[in-house]
Amino acid sequence: MLVHLYQQSYPHPTAPVQECLEEIELPFLSEDLTKVMQSMRVGTNRIREIVLSLRNFSRLDEAEVKDVNIHEGIDSTLTILHNRLKTRAERPEIQTIKDYGNLPLVECYAGQLNQVFMNIISNAIDALEERDRQRLYKDIESNPSTISIRTEVTPNNGIGIYITDNGPGMQEQVRKRIFDPFFTTKPVGKGTGLGLSISYQIVTEKHGGKLWCNSSPGQGTQFIIEIPIKSLKT
Ligand SMILES: Nc1ncnc2c1ncn2[C@@H]1O[C@H](COP(=O)(O)OP(=O)(O)OP(=O)(O)O)[C@@H](O)[C@H]1O
Ligand SMILES: [Mg+2]
Repeated sequence: MLVHLYQQSYPHPTAPVQECLEEIELPFLSEDLTKVMQSMRVGTNRIREIVLSLRNFSRLDEAEVKDVNIHEGIDSTLTILHNRLKTRAERPEIQTIKDYGNLPLVECYAGQLNQVFMNIISNAIDALEERDRQRLYKDIESNPSTISIRTEVTPNNGIGIYITDNGPGMQEQVRKRIFDPFFTTKPVGKGTGLGLSISYQIVTEKHGGKLWCNSSPGQGTQFIIEIPIKSLKT
């Protein structure tokens, strides 16, 4: 920009300047520079998005109940999990389908509730990935793995969040135990079996809500979180 202005103001550069211009190949340099700047802009925007999501996700500054936009929490969780959902060499992306209702702000511990979304959605990804390891790329493409997230206001002044995957589902003897501390079906070193038991505590004890699960083999899995709009604790 500045260089172009100089060129306009002084169209006849002195010999040494002319030499230098030729040496640095100015037209190519300025073209490359534009491209580099564009990549940097895309990169910094993505970083800004992730940092915002991380801050929104952890809400470290907020130890008390606050009026919270639940959809922001779910969206931050999905941004953080983007890397696990996106297309891989061995499989197409796991599709997320959002069906958000018209929710009021909800009085809750935002950071803790985000932890619950993270646990449930990560479990869904684990289950879908495990199942898709036995499917061909083209079969997954024509019948994609999906995670649907629906929200609504419930008749009893609460909100309901439904997180559904079309994965392998669970046998009844597994489903019965998923909220037990340390219950896991994952290999040693992969799962601690604490995700859902912690989530259960957060929803029921911290928020006076309910958390349960519908699942059967081959039918996918649905987790339902219900919490009151106004916190029961004062
Ligand atoms: N969406 C799902 N589809 C199928 N099985 C599931 C699903 N969600 C949970 N499970 C089962 O519930 C078990 C317990 O889940 P939980 O999140 O408590 O522990 P984990 O995922 O095994 O370990 P981590 O402590 O790392 O979360 C899982 O090991 C898995 O067998
Ligand atoms: Mg888990």
